[in-house]
Amino acid sequence: MSILVNINGEYFDQKSAKISVFDRGFLSGDAVFEVIRTYGGKPFMLKEHLDRMKHSAEKISLSLPHSIARIGSLAKKCCQRAGNSESMIRVVVTRGEGPMTLNWDDAKEPNLIIIVVPLVPYPEHCYRDGVSLFIVGRRKIPSYSLDPGIKSNGYLLNILAQNEAKKLGGSEAILLNHRGEVAECTQSNLFAVIDGELLTPPLSAGILGGITRQVTLKISPRAGSPCRERIFYPEDLYGAQEVFITSTRRDIMPVAEIDGKRIGTGKPGKMTQQLMREFERFAQSQR
Ligand SMILES: Cc1ncc(COP(=O)(O)O)c(C=O)c1O
Repeated sequence: MSILVNINGEYFDQKSAKISVFDRGFLSGDAVFEVIRTYGGKPFMLKEHLDRMKHSAEKISLSLPHSIARIGSLAKKCCQRAGNSESMIRVVVTRGEGPMTLNWDDAKEPNLIIIVVPLVPYPEHCYRDGVSLFIVGRRKIPSYSLDPGIKSNGYLLNILAQNEAKKLGGSEAILLNHRGEVAECTQSNLFAVIDGELLTPPLSAGILGGITRQVTLKISPRAGSPCRERIFYPEDLYGAQEVFITSTRRDIMPVAEIDGKRIGTGKPGKMTQQLMREFERFAQSQR
């Protein structure tokens, strides 16, 4: 089990990996990132993650230091070199170093940082029993202020919301958008079975287009119900038959309770369980 860091092509161990305090990713969150997990030691949905990173970078006029293909092959190399049975790979591109201004032209050279750590799965009971979520008071920043499709290092809202939910005994926080519609969680997307139909908020609800969400949409017909993107509200969620969340680290995770209210039977529902199996099948087929 090892942790390995690559900074601009050079390998470091956890202790010696350092970047400048003048790096704008550190100073102002002026950076984009992706988190990728492996299945069978192979990065899962690598191209999709790196494509998303490219789009994030384009949206903030940040030039990636290399092509997506080259970053991808470096990420694979780092993963092999770390030698973990399964890894989490974090790929970060910061605007680089420069004077302490907000003018992005002041930073000339982006930094590419790849961090590989052993994958620590969530406890089995989360998948067996489902987790508890809380709808927090903080709302998503409207898309017209900050495009939610930019996966940037600025995660303060998510950190605050996540810790608010944790204080209440929850495992994730649900954020509504400025219109009061259900948007997403702090590090995951949300799905619900409402009146027998599998639904997830559309991107226009102001959410990140999760890669796991993308896979779930694709495989949903195999689980008996093609998923439809539709706006819904907290009351719809309380009355849902099933709810689950999706993310790279969690895959598909059932939800047992929201705001202390039991969802459905309070146990992972049939459609959720079938999707979990289909997701596992899909992931194994990509190895
Ligand atoms: C805000 C937010 N939404 C959704 C997700 C899930 O995305 P993915 O499935 O690509 O991990 C994440 C992942 O970190 C996230 O930060």
